[in-house]
Amino acid sequence: MSSAKASTSAAPSSAPVAHNALPPPTAPSAGRSSRIAPHSHIKGLGLTSEGFANADSAGFIGQTTAREACGVVVDLIKSRRFSGRALLLVGAPGTGKTALALAVSHELGSKVPFCPMVGSEVYSTEVKKTEVLAEVFRRAIGLRIKETKEVYEGEVTELTPTESENPLSGYGKTVSHVVVGLKTVKGTKQLRLDPSIYEAILKEKIVVGDVIYVEANTGAVKRVGRSDAYASSYDLESETYVPLPKGDVHKRKELVQDVTLGDLDAANARPQGGQDIMSVMGSLVKSGRTEVTEKLRHEVNKVVKGYVDQGVAEVVPGVVFIDEVHMLDIECFTYLNALLESPMAPTVILATNRGNSLVRGTTDIVSPHGIPVDLLDRCMIVKTDSYTRDQVGKVVQLRAIVEGLKLGPGVVDKLAEDGERSSLRYALQLLTPASILATLAGRNQIEVEDIGEMGELFLDAKTSASMIGRDGGFDGGGKML
Ligand SMILES: Nc1ncnc2c1ncn2[C@@H]1O[C@H](COP(=O)(O)OP(=O)(O)OP(=O)(O)O)[C@@H](O)[C@H]1O
Ligand SMILES: [Mg+2]
Repeated sequence: MSSAKASTSAAPSSAPVAHNALPPPTAPSAGRSSRIAPHSHIKGLGLTSEGFANADSAGFIGQTTAREACGVVVDLIKSRRFSGRALLLVGAPGTGKTALALAVSHELGSKVPFCPMVGSEVYSTEVKKTEVLAEVFRRAIGLRIKETKEVYEGEVTELTPTESENPLSGYGKTVSHVVVGLKTVKGTKQLRLDPSIYEAILKEKIVVGDVIYVEANTGAVKRVGRSDAYASSYDLESETYVPLPKGDVHKRKELVQDVTLGDLDAANARPQGGQDIMSVMGSLVKSGRTEVTEKLRHEVNKVVKGYVDQGVAEVVPGVVFIDEVHMLDIECFTYLNALLESPMAPTVILATNRGNSLVRGTTDIVSPHGIPVDLLDRCMIVKTDSYTRDQVGKVVQLRAIVEGLKLGPGVVDKLAEDGERSSLRYALQLLTPASILATLAGRNQIEVEDIGEMGELFLDAKTSASMIGRDGGFDGGGKML
């Protein structure tokens, strides 16, 4: 906090600074990292409780029909009535398709798995195309497992590692055991724990005053939160405070665990056993890439089905989002059809900016959005509209706030005009470079002239396209050089 303050107060005095010396953005949503993601202003779909879109809300400007449609899909996903179906977002580049999909993931919350990917990710030299798709689909099916386990739970009152001579090296000491004191409303207990549990305690950054539980069988340690006896008077902080646990320290507790079918596949494919180098490597490289077979998935499914039948687990279908879906080829599309029809299928959201185009992997099948008609037939299609000048202006203003930029008079109008003529994305992309020009000129505010200069330096897609000769080159010869 103090360093951020120091750098902003220093900025105006050191007028012409190089751009790597730019002050970090100070807007609250900018977060700690210096890079601000292009969609960080999108906080959700911005719908009323009746499902109607507020004109401008949750960082979303306009696009009301598409947002309402996505709202319906969110409701259906939450009530688990949309799995195995697909939503297709179509529209011109920069009209907010990716932003809509991210808004859907915000609305679904962290409990529903959301697995985004880009169509071209399937082209790997190591893994089959269909395997990539199958894996994403497995990761998008959540499983909520309820288990009653024996645990030791309480507020940590003492945390003392006991060291002893290291019998192996002669130098240094190792932790022989750790003594943990736990307190509940009803009583206290002192536990002597194995050093491996001490490592877990260090990893979870557990200190005195935290509420934790240790699973009796496995020794897994989980931090629940900070005891509210230590609650501070800050209005805003990241800590979660929990009350002192009731009952005895040693008790049976119902634990809820969220895993995905993908996790289960990977865990079961990983080579088990000895501490030899192979098993160390096995857990370092993305586990079991080659070992997860269709047979293993069937086995996992069978076990999962058993759990569900016994009422121990609950299936939570999530969402697979495939951006730039026209990059998939006919083989992937066919496989996608099959995946959609499998009994445990997540909801699929697709996005593309193509009109009629050739389906990849074929030489003669031209179809709308580059998607074969049989898959298209399974999709509910939502179109994003292009933006008016007014709407571009509003998005520009939003982004300026997120990026911590000040805009002088007329800048929004100028960018809105540019954005309407070319695209919303072009207008947004001019913001950051224009702010660098402004800083170099010793101003902390972007003026219209900075935007003008940007327009001279950088072309938008349409201008660039119009400069290309009719034969496709710059010198009339059809060559780029
Ligand atoms: N309605 C909107 N309100 C606020 N911001 C928006 C809106 N639409 C788009 N944006 C922002 O504009 C930028 C471009 O949008 P986005 O990347 O979603 O376009 P797209 O439709 O996915 O384009 P493409 O087809 O090229 O992938 C993003 O930074 C996005 O957050
Ligand atoms: Mg996109």
